[in-house]
Amino acid sequence: MLDSGSAVALSPIETSKRLAAYTAVDHHVKPEHTTIGIGSGSTVPYVVERIVQQGVEANKNRVFIPTGFQSKLLIIEAGLNLGDVDEFPSIDVTIDGADEVDKDLNCIKGGGACHLREKVLAEAAKTFIVVADYRKNSEYLGTTWAPGVPIEVVPVAYVRVLRHLKEVLGSPNATLRMALKKAGPVVTDNGNFVIDAPFDREKMMNSSKVLTQIKLLTGVVEVGLFCGMAKAAYFGNQDGTVAIRR
Ligand code: 5RP
Repeated sequence: MLDSGSAVALSPIETSKRLAAYTAVDHHVKPEHTTIGIGSGSTVPYVVERIVQQGVEANKNRVFIPTGFQSKLLIIEAGLNLGDVDEFPSIDVTIDGADEVDKDLNCIKGGGACHLREKVLAEAAKTFIVVADYRKNSEYLGTTWAPGVPIEVVPVAYVRVLRHLKEVLGSPNATLRMALKKAGPVVTDNGNFVIDAPFDREKMMNSSKVLTQIKLLTGVVEVGLFCGMAKAAYFGNQDGTVAIRR
């Protein structure tokens, strides 16, 4: 039985996220682990919550590496030791959320525009684990995550990349991601823009080909397709169970 965490009543979705996060931490954050990557999004706070519950002794010699500003604050506010990936380029385990995960553990990430740093930490990790609620659990990418594949692009190249996505790569509805109330483009932690590019089912069934095609475009910094990177994904279900995909 899992410790239910804080006494505040959570919505069913939040309960599912917490269940996935707690179970993944229990399975993958081991006493011998000293470097831990912390991802971004609304599921990751439960990862940190569970790690804190392992106690001060368990965490005193560990270093936690964030994928962005949000997770940096989470680490600091939890009183955990903060590190950086340039100081710790090899990480024991990274746990992160996802926007969608397919049957082969390929993921769409970048709903929070952090996918460049997320990919660096996923790649740096001996074990990369994904945590999410049941809505992210799909057979094929592009089934439930409607906005499409997030693409971080340098500002000077975004018009050309957008045009290429629409006219050559088969994503006619690709759009530049705008901030709320159209206050201008979303700008990433790295000072770049984000394009969201939806592709049809047939293309997404070969997501690594889509990844390669986009990555080759001049000005593309990183693509929010994480193909063949995750070792396991944990999905909290509505009925209180956890679906684990390996
Ligand atoms: C941010 C991400 C997040 O991990 C992803 O959007 C999932 O977020 P949430 O846990 O809120 O569903 O990729 O760039």
